[in-house]
Amino acid sequence: MAIRQVREMGDEILSKVSKEVTAMTPRTRELIDDMIETMYASNGVGLAAVQVGVLKRIVVMDTTGEDLHVLINPKIVETSGEQTGSEGCLSVPGKMGQVTRPNYAKVVYLDENMQLAELEGTELLARCICHECDHLDGKLYVEKVEGDLVDVPTEEED
Ligand code: NI
Repeated sequence: MAIRQVREMGDEILSKVSKEVTAMTPRTRELIDDMIETMYASNGVGLAAVQVGVLKRIVVMDTTGEDLHVLINPKIVETSGEQTGSEGCLSVPGKMGQVTRPNYAKVVYLDENMQLAELEGTELLARCICHECDHLDGKLYVEKVEGDLVDVPTEEED
Protein backbone atom coordinates (compact mmCIF):
# COMPACT_ATOMS: atom_id res chain seq x y z
CA MET A 1 0.00 0.00 0.00
CA ALA A 2 1.10 3.51 -0.65
CA ILE A 3 -0.17 7.01 -0.26
CA ARG A 4 -0.72 8.57 -3.66
CA GLN A 5 -0.57 12.22 -4.58
CA VAL A 6 -3.99 13.89 -4.62
CA ARG A 7 -4.62 15.97 -7.74
CA GLU A 8 -5.84 19.50 -7.03
CA MET A 9 -8.27 21.83 -8.74
CA GLY A 10 -6.65 23.23 -11.86
CA ASP A 11 -5.40 19.79 -12.87
CA GLU A 12 -7.34 19.03 -16.03
CA ILE A 13 -7.74 15.34 -15.22
CA LEU A 14 -10.33 16.30 -12.59
CA SER A 15 -12.71 17.45 -15.34
CA LYS A 16 -12.51 14.18 -17.29
CA VAL A 17 -15.10 11.41 -17.29
CA SER A 18 -13.81 8.18 -15.74
CA LYS A 19 -14.19 4.81 -17.47
CA GLU A 20 -16.10 1.78 -16.24
CA VAL A 21 -14.10 -1.01 -14.61
CA THR A 22 -14.62 -4.26 -16.54
CA ALA A 23 -12.54 -6.69 -14.47
CA MET A 24 -10.78 -6.84 -11.12
CA THR A 25 -7.03 -7.08 -11.63
CA PRO A 26 -4.08 -7.01 -9.21
CA ARG A 27 -3.38 -3.48 -10.43
CA THR A 28 -6.92 -2.35 -9.65
CA ARG A 29 -6.79 -4.01 -6.22
CA GLU A 30 -3.59 -2.12 -5.50
CA LEU A 31 -5.23 1.11 -6.65
CA ILE A 32 -8.16 0.54 -4.27
CA ASP A 33 -5.82 -0.23 -1.35
CA ASP A 34 -3.85 2.92 -2.09
CA MET A 35 -7.02 5.01 -2.37
CA ILE A 36 -8.14 3.82 1.07
CA GLU A 37 -4.76 4.58 2.59
CA THR A 38 -4.64 7.98 0.90
CA MET A 39 -8.16 8.89 2.05
CA TYR A 40 -7.41 8.03 5.69
CA ALA A 41 -4.00 9.71 5.61
CA SER A 42 -5.66 12.89 4.33
CA ASN A 43 -8.51 12.75 6.88
CA GLY A 44 -11.00 12.61 4.03
CA VAL A 45 -14.41 10.95 4.05
CA GLY A 46 -14.31 10.01 0.39
CA LEU A 47 -11.97 9.73 -2.57
CA ALA A 48 -12.48 8.98 -6.25
CA ALA A 49 -9.81 7.31 -8.39
CA VAL A 50 -9.56 10.33 -10.65
CA GLN A 51 -8.30 12.30 -7.65
CA VAL A 52 -5.18 10.16 -7.64
CA GLY A 53 -4.90 10.47 -11.40
CA VAL A 54 -6.61 7.25 -12.53
CA LEU A 55 -9.70 7.56 -14.75
CA LYS A 56 -11.54 4.52 -13.39
CA ARG A 57 -15.03 4.60 -11.92
CA ILE A 58 -13.98 3.70 -8.37
CA VAL A 59 -14.86 5.47 -5.14
CA VAL A 60 -13.89 4.82 -1.52
CA MET A 61 -15.84 6.38 1.34
CA ASP A 62 -15.91 6.31 5.11
CA THR A 63 -18.06 8.97 6.71
CA THR A 64 -17.74 7.76 10.31
CA GLY A 65 -14.25 6.27 10.58
CA GLU A 66 -15.67 2.77 10.79
CA ASP A 67 -17.89 2.47 7.75
CA LEU A 68 -15.63 1.82 4.78
CA HIS A 69 -17.25 1.34 1.37
CA VAL A 70 -15.59 0.58 -1.94
CA LEU A 71 -17.85 1.33 -4.89
CA ILE A 72 -16.98 0.27 -8.42
CA ASN A 73 -19.03 1.67 -11.32
CA PRO A 74 -21.49 3.31 -8.90
CA LYS A 75 -24.79 4.55 -10.28
CA ILE A 76 -27.22 6.62 -8.26
CA VAL A 77 -30.67 5.11 -8.79
CA GLU A 78 -32.78 7.04 -6.33
CA THR A 79 -32.63 10.34 -4.45
CA SER A 80 -35.07 12.28 -2.35
CA GLY A 81 -35.28 15.30 -0.13
CA GLU A 82 -32.77 18.09 0.14
CA GLN A 83 -30.01 19.22 2.48
CA THR A 84 -27.83 22.30 2.38
CA GLY A 85 -24.53 22.23 4.21
CA SER A 86 -20.78 22.67 4.16
CA GLU A 87 -18.79 20.59 1.76
CA GLY A 88 -15.10 20.23 1.08
CA CYS A 89 -12.89 18.12 -1.15
CA LEU A 90 -9.34 16.79 -0.88
CA SER A 91 -8.76 18.26 -4.35
CA VAL A 92 -9.68 21.74 -3.11
CA PRO A 93 -7.55 21.90 0.04
CA GLY A 94 -8.32 24.39 2.76
CA LYS A 95 -11.65 25.46 1.29
CA MET A 96 -15.29 24.72 1.91
CA GLY A 97 -18.65 25.94 0.64
CA GLN A 98 -22.39 25.51 0.97
CA VAL A 99 -23.87 22.91 -1.36
CA THR A 100 -27.44 21.63 -1.67
CA ARG A 101 -27.68 17.87 -2.20
CA PRO A 102 -30.39 15.22 -1.87
CA ASN A 103 -30.90 14.16 1.73
CA TYR A 104 -31.22 10.53 0.65
CA ALA A 105 -29.38 8.64 -2.04
CA LYS A 106 -29.37 5.02 -3.13
CA VAL A 107 -26.51 3.75 -5.26
CA VAL A 108 -25.93 0.43 -7.02
CA TYR A 109 -22.37 -0.64 -7.71
CA LEU A 110 -19.96 -3.57 -7.92
CA ASP A 111 -18.03 -4.51 -4.81
CA GLU A 112 -14.37 -5.55 -4.77
CA ASN A 113 -15.40 -9.04 -5.90
CA MET A 114 -17.29 -7.49 -8.82
CA GLN A 115 -20.58 -8.53 -7.24
CA LEU A 116 -23.62 -6.31 -7.55
CA ALA A 117 -24.37 -4.43 -4.34
CA GLU A 118 -26.34 -1.44 -3.19
CA LEU A 119 -25.98 1.18 -0.52
CA GLU A 120 -28.38 3.79 0.72
CA GLY A 121 -27.61 6.71 2.94
CA THR A 122 -28.96 9.92 4.35
CA GLU A 123 -27.36 13.18 5.40
CA LEU A 124 -23.54 13.02 5.27
CA LEU A 125 -23.45 9.62 3.55
CA ALA A 126 -25.94 10.78 0.90
CA ARG A 127 -23.88 13.94 0.40
CA CYS A 128 -20.71 11.88 0.08
CA ILE A 129 -22.27 9.45 -2.43
CA CYS A 130 -23.37 12.37 -4.63
CA HIS A 131 -20.06 14.25 -4.30
CA GLU A 132 -17.95 11.19 -5.17
CA CYS A 133 -20.16 10.12 -8.09
CA ASP A 134 -19.84 13.66 -9.47
CA HIS A 135 -16.05 13.22 -9.51
CA LEU A 136 -16.48 10.24 -11.86
CA ASP A 137 -18.23 12.53 -14.32
CA GLY A 138 -15.55 15.21 -14.05
CA LYS A 139 -17.50 17.51 -11.75
CA LEU A 140 -16.23 19.31 -8.65
CA TYR A 141 -18.48 20.60 -5.88
CA VAL A 142 -17.19 24.13 -6.46
CA GLU A 143 -19.52 24.32 -9.49
CA LYS A 144 -22.46 23.87 -7.13
CA VAL A 145 -21.40 26.14 -4.29
CA GLU A 146 -23.95 28.68 -3.19
CA GLY A 147 -22.18 31.89 -2.30
CA ASP A 148 -18.42 31.92 -1.91
CA LEU A 149 -15.83 29.29 -1.19
CA VAL A 150 -14.44 30.07 2.23
CA ASP A 151 -11.29 29.09 4.07
CA VAL A 152 -11.59 26.16 6.44
CA PRO A 153 -10.95 27.56 9.91
CA THR A 154 -7.57 26.45 11.16
CA GLU A 155 -7.33 25.14 14.68
CA GLU A 156 -5.70 27.53 17.03
CA GLU A 157 -2.56 26.38 18.71
CA ASP A 158 -2.56 25.92 22.44
NI1 NI B 1 -14.05 15.54 -3.69
